[in-house]
Amino acid sequence: MDNIRCAVVTGANKGIGFEICRQLALEGIEIILTARNESRGVEAVNKLNASGISNVIFHQLDITDSKSVQNLVKFIESRFKKLDILVNNAAESGIVYVDINKFKEGGALMQVTDDNVDNLTGLIEEPYDLGERCLNINYYGTKRVTDALIPLLQLSKSPRVVNISSAYGDLHWFHNEELKHELHDIENLTEERIDEVIQCFLRDFKVAKLRENRWPLTCSAYKVSKAALNAYTRLMARKYQNILINAVHPGYVVTDMTSQTGILTVEEGAQGSIMAALLPDDGPSGAYFDKTKLAPFASAERPI
Ligand SMILES: NC(=O)c1ccc[n+]([C@@H]2O[C@H](COP(=O)([O-])OP(=O)(O)OC[C@H]3O[C@@H](n4cnc5c(N)ncnc54)[C@H](OP(=O)(O)O)[C@@H]3O)[C@@H](O)[C@H]2O)c1
Repeated sequence: MDNIRCAVVTGANKGIGFEICRQLALEGIEIILTARNESRGVEAVNKLNASGISNVIFHQLDITDSKSVQNLVKFIESRFKKLDILVNNAAESGIVYVDINKFKEGGALMQVTDDNVDNLTGLIEEPYDLGERCLNINYYGTKRVTDALIPLLQLSKSPRVVNISSAYGDLHWFHNEELKHELHDIENLTEERIDEVIQCFLRDFKVAKLRENRWPLTCSAYKVSKAALNAYTRLMARKYQNILINAVHPGYVVTDMTSQTGILTVEEGAQGSIMAALLPDDGPSGAYFDKTKLAPFASAERPI
């Protein structure tokens, strides 16, 4: 069993997560493809099996549900006794496309910037409940899964955690310089402080004080969720020095999340994560990759 490497990928029934499963399986790694919806997950595994990939199994996982997370932990304990790779991929955007055709005509991603916020009215919307859900999945859900699987990762000889982040998590998008500094200053930042920042954001979001309090104005909850995930990645890397824990921006990829407006295929979008999952033992930890290249957490220039 020691020679068999195994990986968990969250939210892997479609999109980039599905492709990460496929590419890691081709490396000979045993894959636990997880999805919150059982039939969508089983269908995804069947698709891989039908293409000749047999080293992929399904396990249900809703990352917002502690019981579901605990069931996965028990399953891995009994079946593999350890975990080598965790890819935290599951996420939601927190937005709804109101007029996707107009959004595409306007240049899609290029126009989702704060100086363009007024032009986006009627194209995309960010209801509070979706924003709150986005933070619960992208940040709190990812943290829940990671914290629960750390003991099994500690039993691996070469543990890796890949947090799929986003260029939207770049601190460049924040307008509050003090907060930017705080989220970047990893020596003094704590998980409790990240939590306070998120709760403060949600309070401001609820009462429409995003502009007043200098939060990102477009894809706001998503940007806060990924910036928080980046900070958590760095804190975890410092805490668990035997595990290589990194964040990866996959690029702008053709998936349901981008309503198929991306410019990269899922094969291209999975490359950075595959590289981070297969890093050699002397590879970086607590780092951020823009696709396959090391990049800063707070860019001076617009990161997209
Ligand atoms: N596509 C891009 O251009 C892009 C750019 C930057 C970053 N990313 C990041 O890349 C990752 C993958 O995105 P994608 O584009 O492949 O998106 P996608 O096609 O929408 O897939 C998202 C996956 O996450 C799952 N998910 C959502 N909430 C979940 C939960 N509570 N528990 C378990 N699974 C859950 C979804 O399940 P259901 O099918 O059940 O909804 C789906 O399988 C995300 O972290 C995203 O933020 C994507």
